[in-house]
Amino acid sequence: MATERSSTSNDQGASGKRGTPLVQPWPVAGQIGTTVLDTMLSGNGVYVKDAQGRNLIDGPAGMWCVNVGHRNQPLADVLRDQAMGLTYSSPWYTSNNPAEQLARMLADRAPGDLKHVFFTTGGSSAVETALRLMQFYNNVRGRPDKKLIVSRQGAYHGSTYLSASLNGRPRDHDWMDGASALCRKLSCPDPFHRPAGVSVAEFEGFLEAEFRELIQKEGAARIGAFVAEPVQASGGVLVPTPHYLERMRAICKEHDILFIADEVVTAFGRLGHIFASKDVFGIQPDMITFAKGVTSGYFPLGGVMVSSKIFEDLRRSNHADAMFAHGYTYSSHPIGCAVAIRNLELLEGGILEHVRAIAPYFQERLKSLESLALVGEVRGLGLMAGIECVADRKSNNPLELDLEVGKRIDRHCQELGLLVRPLINMCVMSPPLVITADQIDDMVGILRDGISKTMDDLVREGLWRG
Ligand SMILES: Cc1ncc(COP(=O)(O)O)c(C=O)c1O
Repeated sequence: MATERSSTSNDQGASGKRGTPLVQPWPVAGQIGTTVLDTMLSGNGVYVKDAQGRNLIDGPAGMWCVNVGHRNQPLADVLRDQAMGLTYSSPWYTSNNPAEQLARMLADRAPGDLKHVFFTTGGSSAVETALRLMQFYNNVRGRPDKKLIVSRQGAYHGSTYLSASLNGRPRDHDWMDGASALCRKLSCPDPFHRPAGVSVAEFEGFLEAEFRELIQKEGAARIGAFVAEPVQASGGVLVPTPHYLERMRAICKEHDILFIADEVVTAFGRLGHIFASKDVFGIQPDMITFAKGVTSGYFPLGGVMVSSKIFEDLRRSNHADAMFAHGYTYSSHPIGCAVAIRNLELLEGGILEHVRAIAPYFQERLKSLESLALVGEVRGLGLMAGIECVADRKSNNPLELDLEVGKRIDRHCQELGLLVRPLINMCVMSPPLVITADQIDDMVGILRDGISKTMDDLVREGLWRG
């Protein structure tokens, strides 16, 4: 996905590298302000066309977001119509019909008593909102020490200061500051890399015990929230062990710790349901954060579903004048909300059903890639999957020799007609939800060729023995 080419700008600095005005996310210091990525020109359904005129299957659906596919006419129409109607209204002192309607629709679909929604501008701001609400909640309830936030290794929750402090993927914190005094991390619930000789059931028991030990050490009176992606997405599509989420949920309940399900990736169809927490994993969170698929990426929008209980507790507190001093200029944006309403109708008009029907085929076809020597595991759920490459299958070592193996696969796959999301030694696949069986076959065929070519390169360069 991230093929780099040199800049055409004239701004040549002391580093000898040419500068370019557009700065892309996650740059490294030695190339900051100089990286130019492949330009995408247009899209249609599951395909995007690049500047070289190549039609590529959009393997990651942008960033797990273009759920209904590219160039969707109904979404384009609603964008234009809403922009020509009410373009914007301030959420500070007005409301608007699309926001009110969308809030009702989401409250009807969210599990249990998640009857309120606060709209944000994306996933990071949704997580940030949930965390600040937890802090406010405990302040107002006279528990100012109950603020620690527990997340997991391998997690990704965003790029604002507090949400980023919860991240636990390799390299997330090497050079970045964070609110570490407020955060605690548990082990990554990754069954593939569980210690040798430990069964899946024992691993789940260990994860539960670890959370209990942390609570004992810190004190429940100091822990405000546990934040978890139901399936760790950017961590490599890590599907937890069967009862893990249930068990973590139960611990939170026991200790009055808010359970925040970060469904920025898993909501809005990726797992075949609008929200996955209850429908797929049988858990009832206190808050659910969402973004991305809520508008299929046609407009930046996110939000937090909040339980009636939290608001009830706030209303009943002794601090009726305490203000939740938090909000965004673009909270409840009428265009974003109008797009989300139409998107929801499209998802419920057959796409969710399609996902549930085709997901087993998607997983089974991708799983066949495990016959390649470089592939340690293919795992996933719904229409999301991770392909993890390993240097040696006995130890399941990640490819320490070449952490860029995902990028190598991506480069070959792009030549063959597929965009891949490379993540160190992994490739993540999460195509638009409208993908057909034939397109899945094409995607897997290209991946097989791309991985085979990568294996040949690694052997030729003496980096891998095969
Ligand atoms: C689970 C999860 N939470 C939060 C975010 C942050 O969302 P955004 O990039 O829209 O701020 C992401 C982004 O990939 C995500 O995967």
